[in-house]
This record gives sequence, structure tokens and C-alpha cells, in this order.
Amino acid sequence: MSKVLIIGAGGQIGSELTHKLREIHGNNNVIASDISFSNKDLVNSGLFEILDAKDYNAIKNCIEKYNIDTVYLMAAMLSATGEKHPMMAWDLNMNSLFHVLNLAKEGAIKKVFWPSSIAVFGPTTPSIQTPQHTIMEPTTVYGITKQVGERWCEYYHKQYGVDVRSLRYPGIISWKTMPGGGTTDYAVEIYHKAITDKSYECFLSEETELPMMFMDDAINATVNIMQAPSEAIKIRSAYNLAAISFTPKELAAAIKRFIPEFEINYNPDFRQKIADSWPKSIDDTSARTDWNWKHHYDLKAMTLEMLKQLKSKYDSEAEFSS
Ligand code: SER
Repeated sequence: MSKVLIIGAGGQIGSELTHKLREIHGNNNVIASDISFSNKDLVNSGLFEILDAKDYNAIKNCIEKYNIDTVYLMAAMLSATGEKHPMMAWDLNMNSLFHVLNLAKEGAIKKVFWPSSIAVFGPTTPSIQTPQHTIMEPTTVYGITKQVGERWCEYYHKQYGVDVRSLRYPGIISWKTMPGGGTTDYAVEIYHKAITDKSYECFLSEETELPMMFMDDAINATVNIMQAPSEAIKIRSAYNLAAISFTPKELAAAIKRFIPEFEINYNPDFRQKIADSWPKSIDDTSARTDWNWKHHYDLKAMTLEMLKQLKSKYDSEAEFSS
């Protein structure tokens, strides 16, 4: 029976991954951790530890305490926040990865999941159907940490036999936990504002096309790559992963089909430059071939699900407070 630790479990992806892993491995075999108790839902629904991803000894003690064999390292500072705090982003994103890779190298754990991102690509990368192996000159601190992290993952696998697996997540869209500090966050905020205000001011321009994915697909990809036999994982840096690509204008049109009065206006800020440096679409043939990756949600199905779930969330909050 596998014993799993999720570091950064309170975040957008970590929180939903934790619930899924509890379903798979059983509540007593999954330990969620984060630097604060702020995600109450997570803290109250299973085993939870306060853990600073920058603290090697704290991670080591937690692994020993629970006899952990698999770590999902989901803590990171994302692209927009990283540009405001470059050294903090470097410090958190790199040191947490080294701590976990070194614990795997020392034999304290057997398996590691660490997410990479489309941010590893930059303005010189071919932006349409970006290949798995291509030019990578990221211009954000976040992108630099993810690119360097990928190199270290591959190095630890080749040199020390560490079983580390990684995905280049596109922008992830979900309704349970808000994302924080990313450039793709507009695609989550827009759904909330569509329900609460019927209007949204977008911080990217209307034609900014980016690769995106619904959370359920991202969680499935994560679980699938971790469950695949080791020999199927031929890429030990990180796999390209794709589902849908759209612009804010196309997303607004998809929302308008369900909420006709919805209005969007555009006021691009510093995140526009980050978005412009990233691919528009991704070629993920290697993931589809090597471990049978498939996505299920298109723009319409995702929009329907997002609006349905958020509507009932806001309705029940209103009911609760009245
Ligand atoms: N969603 C991330 C960001 O916008 C990209 O991996 O920073």
C-alpha cells in the first residue's frame, strides 16, 4: 500500500489532487501538507500537516513519521507573482525540488511527481503545436525555475535512478480552489465574475490564445502518469500536455451561450507580456503515445460544468448567510 505526501496541498491543483488520491489510496494513506491551515476543507477532511516546502528537515521528518513512499510536490510560486518576487520564486521553486529529489536519491522515498509548465517555453519557441523537444528560452523567473527543474529531474533519473515524473501543465481551470498568481488565472476569474457580476474586466487582450485544461483532465493526467509502469515513462524531464486552446474572446463567447447578458472588456496589464511569450497550442503526442493520455473536456463541456458548479456554490453560500 502506497503512502503519499502532497506538499502544497492547499493550492488550486493540490487540493483537488489530494481528494482524488484519498479516493485511490484511502484517507489514512494520504497526508496533505501546506504552510498554513487556510484551506479548511482540506484540513478538516483528512490527515494534514503544516510543512514548509523550503525546509528539508521538516519534509524528511514528515516522510519518516508517516512512512511516506511517494511525494507530490505541488508548492510553487507562479508566473505573475514570480515576476514581483524573483528571488523568492527561485528560492521556493528550486529548493523544494532539490529537497524532494535528494530525499529520493537517499532512498527515503521511491517516487516523485513534480509539475512543470508551458512557462518553460519562450518567445523564440514555435508557438503553434509546440513540439515536445524544441527551443526553450523562458523569460519569466517561474519559467526559468521550471526549465531548470526539468533538467534536474532528468539528471536525477539518469544519474541516480530517481523515479521522478512530470507534466508541463497548461493553464488549469477549476471551480473548487482559486488559482493564485498565474497568468492563466483570468480563465478562472471570468467564470466567477460571470456568475456574480455578469461582467468581467480581462487583464489579457481579446486575441491572446493560450493552452488550457479543465481540472478533471489535469488530475487524470497526473494520476495516470504516476500509475504508468516506469518503463512507459520515456521522458524524464516533463511531458507536453494539451487539451484545449482559446482566446479570452472565445471564452467570453462560450459563456455568453449560457449567460447572454455577460459582458467582457479588456484592460491588459504586465501579464500580457508573459502570455505573449507562451505557446498558443501544444503537441502532446508523446504523452498520448507513451502512457495513453487523453483529455475529455472541450471548451463547451468545461464551460457548462464551471457555470453549473459555481452557480450552486454561490447559491448555497447565499442561502447559508441569509
Ligand atoms: N498557470 C501558470 C501561470 O499562469 C502556468 O503554468 O503561471
